[in-house]
Parts: sequence; C-alpha cells; structure tokens
Amino acid sequence: MTSDAGDSGDSGDSLDQLVAAVRGSGRYRDVAESLIRRVGASELAKRRGLKEAIKATKSKLHQVAGAYLDEPRYGAWLAELRAAYEEVDGGLEAARERRRGALRRVMARHASTRERLPILDQFYTQTLAGIGPIHSVLDLACGLNPLALGWLPLAADAEYIACDIYGDLMAFLGGYFALEATHGRPGLRGRAETRDVIAAPPAGHAEVALLLKAIPCLEQSDKDAGEQLLRAVRAEHLLVSFPAHSLGGRSKGMLANYEARFHELMARTGIGARATITRFQFATELAFLISR
Ligand SMILES: C[S@@+](CC[C@H](N)C(=O)[O-])C[C@H]1O[C@@H](n2cnc3c(N)ncnc32)[C@H](O)[C@@H]1O
Repeated sequence: MTSDAGDSGDSGDSLDQLVAAVRGSGRYRDVAESLIRRVGASELAKRRGLKEAIKATKSKLHQVAGAYLDEPRYGAWLAELRAAYEEVDGGLEAARERRRGALRRVMARHASTRERLPILDQFYTQTLAGIGPIHSVLDLACGLNPLALGWLPLAADAEYIACDIYGDLMAFLGGYFALEATHGRPGLRGRAETRDVIAAPPAGHAEVALLLKAIPCLEQSDKDAGEQLLRAVRAEHLLVSFPAHSLGGRSKGMLANYEARFHELMARTGIGARATITRFQFATELAFLISR
C-alpha cells in the first residue's frame, strides 16, 4: 500500500484529514459531515492513499448530489423570490402567476425539479388526488422541491419539513418558508434541516412523505439505503418516484429497472403486502403512491 504525504496511516486521522480536505473545497463545504465520513471511510478502505481517497470521495459526492445542482446563487434566488412576493401590482391572480413564475425559474436550477416543471401542474394533482388537505409533509432528500409546496393540496396550517445534505440549500429554503409565511400562508410551519437521511432518517410522523427520485441516488453511496429509509419513514402516504431519464438523457431500460427495484424493495420491506400501491407514469417521472 502506498501512502500520500501527510497520510499518517492511522485510519481515524486519515478520515479526519479527508473530511477537512473535502470540506475545504468550496462545493462541499456545507455538506452534512456524516455523509462525507461514510463515503470517505469506504473510499479510504478501497484506495491507495489519502489523496486518491479524497479525489474519489469528491467524485462520489458529485455523483450523489453535486451533479444535480447548478452553481448555487442562493442570495440572488431569494432576492428574486422576494421581489415577486412583495410586488403588489395587479390582482390576486396576477400575484399568484408572478410568484409561480419566479418559483419555476428557481426550481429550474436543480436538475430534478427542472425535469418536473413540464408535468408540475399534473404531478401532485394526480398522485395526491383524494388526499388532503394535508397537515404534514416530510420531503426527504428534497433538493429544491419544497418550492413546489403551493402545488400540493396543503392545509392552511400545514407543517412542511424538508431535508437534504446541503446546509446552504437548507438556509435558502428556510428563507423561502419565511417569505411564504409572511406573504399569503401565515399558518405554514416550514422547517429545513441539513440531514443525511441514510445516517439519521427523521424520527417524526407525517401524513405525506415525499421520496422523489432519491432512491437511485441514495443507493449510490449505500446499496441498502433505499430499503433502510423505506423501513424508517413513518407516514400514512409515501410518494416514491424515479427519473425516466438519466442526467445525460439516457432512458433505455431505465424505467423497467427502476420499477423492478421498487417492487423488490416493497417485497423486502414487507410494505407491499400491507399497503395499497398506485402507479403513475409521467413523461419525465415514474411515481408510486404507497398508502397504509
Ligand atoms: C435526484 S435529486 C432529487 C431531489 C428532489 N427529491 C426532487 O425530486 O426534486 C437527489 C437529492 O438527494 C440529495 N441527497 C443525496 N444523498 C443524500 C443523503 N444521504 N441525505 C439527504 N439527501 C441526500 C441530493 O443532494 C439531491 O438533492
């Protein structure tokens, strides 16, 4: 085994050095530490030294999270939303359209929500038809999806808890929740948590949990992550989805593979035997509503 300069050879020290090096590089500064540690420990065990393990950890983090998000401009995005929410010209309908336009523009900065924009007007009306008004939502590995909360059939006093691994993204979503509560939804109780949902799935109960296009991504850093999370989530309704295309646009065989994986997970967790499952296929996304 070769060792890089600065590699003490002690795995605990190496892991601390790896975490510091990864966090020192701008893009991953705000990523939940438990994820960097888990990926880093596995790369240290596989690679020939600290330097290689740092490189491989960054590459894996890019694969599971970084690749989806455009260069973050959280300050500018929040300013754009604020301008749309604070503008008073026109009637209620004009205000609603202005806000939705601004929300759509920001959602276009994350690949997952960008792909959902063409189907957004149908996505929640169809998948959550007959459910609601919803009093509590748990949005797991949320990306920018909480910006779509106005498209869900929410109760006026709904609690919306969102989590993802980026601290700065969560701060931005906190700012958005505050804006939404100040301008039009005074009862909204929004909370954005920086959380590695594999290491620490949220313990609370929700009426609806969203696990949108996240399973393939979570399983890239831990092959059992999808199963563990499905077992841990406590919700009456769980909306799980899969992308119809890869980030590169490839789609051949993907849907069939994801559908097979979903049913395998339903069988392994025993959820399939105890719940009603409804399937929805959209142009860019395959979704399953699990109701129990
Ligand atoms: C494919 S995107 C889906 C985003 C969102 N659910 C949607 O459909 O619009 C996957 C998301 O999972 C997040 N993620 C990856 N690993 C995670 C982990 N261990 N815990 C929480 N979030 C994670 C990424 O940052 C990314 O935002």
